Amino acid sequence: MLGDTSSGTTTAPSPRRRGDYGVDGDFETVSPRGQLVVVGAIVAALAALTAVLATVADAPAFAVIPGILAVALVLGVTSYIHTTRVGKFVVWSRVLGDLQLRGDEEVLDLGCGRGALLTMVAELLPNGRAVGIDLWHADQTGNSPEATLRNAALEGVADRVEVRTGDVTRLPFDDDSFDLVISNLVLHNIPSAAARQAAIDEAVRVLRPGGRIVIGDLMHTKHYRARLLELGLTDLSRRDLGWHMWWGAPFFPTRLVTGWYRR
Ligand SMILES: C[S@@+](CC[C@H](N)C(=O)[O-])C[C@H]1O[C@@H](n2cnc3c(N)ncnc32)[C@H](O)[C@@H]1O
Repeated sequence: MLGDTSSGTTTAPSPRRRGDYGVDGDFETVSPRGQLVVVGAIVAALAALTAVLATVADAPAFAVIPGILAVALVLGVTSYIHTTRVGKFVVWSRVLGDLQLRGDEEVLDLGCGRGALLTMVAELLPNGRAVGIDLWHADQTGNSPEATLRNAALEGVADRVEVRTGDVTRLPFDDDSFDLVISNLVLHNIPSAAARQAAIDEAVRVLRPGGRIVIGDLMHTKHYRARLLELGLTDLSRRDLGWHMWWGAPFFPTRLVTGWYRR
């Protein structure tokens, strides 16, 4: 169901999606299925080792170690799959809902991939526009402009979604073009600190006065926040998005940086 706009501002979009949003991560060399097979084989080997060690005299205590490793691997992979297929939609549905959009904003999604955030935010923009930009690199299975537009059609928001090919460090948009800039799990892919800073600078350049910025990422979020402060953004916050966005374990969380551009 599309976000309700009857009260003048929009509520959270549905985290249940009709489209196919792939799997986040680098699977260029070994496919997700291939990596699952490898992990399954390792878990089976660890389980077999546990069974053998448990039956050998004087060794039962050692059996605990491969057993714990096997359980940790299963939990880690389960957490990763949950995050990429379900958790990020649950979390971003709340994050976007909390923005209380009017519904006529123009929104830019940096590194939109297959459109997980793009189609959700478009649900909240019956009179607005959601633009996604991406280089369609690895780091998400099957990302392409066609896949994103197909998802927009499946979610019923194709009329307000646009997709562009480009680099987030050199945005092909005029200054003051957007009311909101969002991004999820993109900027850490940019190899140098200078280029990541250029991406933040570009995000602020295209933001209109009164606009907001909302960036989720695995790393470097302290630097994003610091740069936004230098650029004059206010009401800055940086917070942990919780277990729905753990990438396999609690020590791989996703953090969210937000700020207002009150020029
Ligand atoms: C892990 S995916 C996340 C996609 C989407 N934001 C989501 O949450 O589903 C990272 C995306 O960032 C894109 N990307 C990485 N570096 C980029 C850059 N410099 N400019 C534009 N897109 C980039 C990749 O092509 C990929 O689609």
